[in-house]
This record gives sequence, C-alpha cells and structure tokens, in this order.
Amino acid sequence: MAFFTSATQSIPEVAEIPKHIAVIMDGNGRWARKRFLPRVAGHKRGVETVRDVVKYCLNLKVEHLTLFAFSSENWRRPDDEVSFLMGLFMQALKREVEKLHKNNIKLVMIGDRSRFDAKLVAQIDASEKLTVNNTALTLTIAANYGGRWDVMQAMNKMQLAAPQLTGFYREEHLTPHLAMSYAPEPDLFIRTGGEKRISNFLLWQLAYTELYFTDTLWPDFNEAAFNLAIQSYQNRERRFGRTSEQLA
Ligand code: IPE
Ligand code: IPE
Ligand code: MG
Repeated sequence: MAFFTSATQSIPEVAEIPKHIAVIMDGNGRWARKRFLPRVAGHKRGVETVRDVVKYCLNLKVEHLTLFAFSSENWRRPDDEVSFLMGLFMQALKREVEKLHKNNIKLVMIGDRSRFDAKLVAQIDASEKLTVNNTALTLTIAANYGGRWDVMQAMNKMQLAAPQLTGFYREEHLTPHLAMSYAPEPDLFIRTGGEKRISNFLLWQLAYTELYFTDTLWPDFNEAAFNLAIQSYQNRERRFGRTSEQLA
C-alpha cells in the first residue's frame, strides 16, 4: 500500500494540474424540475455528465477522480428515488465497465456496502477486479459513503491492528485504514448545484483541499464549466499554513 504525504504532517507537492479532484455531483433533481420532468430524469442525465468529466480528466492527466454518488444520508429520500438510484448505479456499472477498462481506467467503490443487495455488490466486485491493474486514471465512486462513517471504520480497524497503542495513536496510525488510503488527499474539491457545504463527504481528506463551488447544476456541468474550476484552482495560493513571502 502506497503512503502519501499528509497535508498536516508535511507540505505536499503542488502541480498545475490537480492530481486528485473530488466532486459532489449535485443539482440533478433541480435540473429535472426546471424542465417539468421527474427528479429521476435528472439522475439519468447526470450519468452522461459523469462520462464527460471522466474524459476531461483523462485529457488533463488527472490521476484520481472521486465522485460522490450516494451519501449515507441519501437513504432518507423517498423509497422510489432510492431504488431508482440503486438501479441506475447497477445499470451504469454494467454498461460502462468495459469502456472504462478499454481506456485503462481503474474503478474503485468506497462506502459501506452492507446495505446494498447481493447482485449490486457482486457487480461492484467484478468491476473492480476487471480494472484493478489499470493506470491512466483511478475513478472512485463514493456510494453509501459518509465522511464520519469513514473515520469511525478507520478508528475501529486501527484499534484492532494495534491495540497496544491505545491512548497513543497518531495520524499515521489512522490514515492507512481510511477508505481512500490508496490516493493522495484531494487537491481540488468541486461542488455543483449551488450549495456551499460538504454534506459529510471526505471530511478528513479535505483538510487542505482547495474548495470550488458553482451554481451550475450537475447535468449542465460541461467542459467549459470544468475548465473554469481548473482555472480557479490554478489561481489559488496553496500555503499550507505558511506566509506568501515564504512561498516566493
Ligand atoms: C445529486 O442531485 C444526486 C444525488 C444526491 C444522488 P440531487 O438529487 O441532490 O439534486 P437536487 O439537489 O435535489 O437538485
Ligand atoms: C450530496 O448531495 C450527496 C451527493 C451528491 C451524492 P445532497 O443533495 O444529498 O446534499 P444535501 O442534502 O443538499 O446536503
Ligand atoms: Mg442535492
């Protein structure tokens, strides 16, 4: 398992192109309602945006793209919307995995799988297995993911792995057990749909991530909108606690 720099332990390398982009894909329901369509029509359109954003990331040679597809709190939605989303997830996996594989993309799913039905879990496992050695881009889908769930499951694993350290745990004991320990911390976070909140996404990992919020709804998030986010990132001064003078 690779170990990456923690932004609080040492200063990460900063590049023009973010190595890791994490996205809250929000606004599907509102996109559909604006067109007098059922909310789920927006989710369907949102899958097309996913396909496009994967392409933009491949072109830019981004190493990691992490997409929030379903939060641990999204179970609170009406039953029919939840089952539609589960069905769409299954369908998208089945339809897209060969194409992802052909494009040398590695697919990983993070989140608590225990509430998914067995067929979906089997499809996730098979998709991950097929693409495990791919190297062009790692596409992580966060499904039934919650940042607090992640920290808690990592704490439990940490304690099992080193019970003798109780009372003396440090960051480096915890981070290998986090769901995204295989990836560097995100450089850029994007949330579409206008809300300015994290909604229990990657809480630990976003400590020094540059945050970008746009009113554009996810189904409308096209290449121009994506490029605006990248440009915004490129204009940030990532200080990690230091002064501007120290950077110069
Ligand atoms: C994001 O779009 C997709 C999921 C949460 C699954 P929403 O469904 O939250 O769309 P809005 O925010 O209601 O417009
Ligand atoms: C966050 O969007 C979760 C996903 C995009 C999967 P929500 O639409 O669920 O977030 P809130 O409820 O507005 O915070
Ligand atoms: Mg929403």
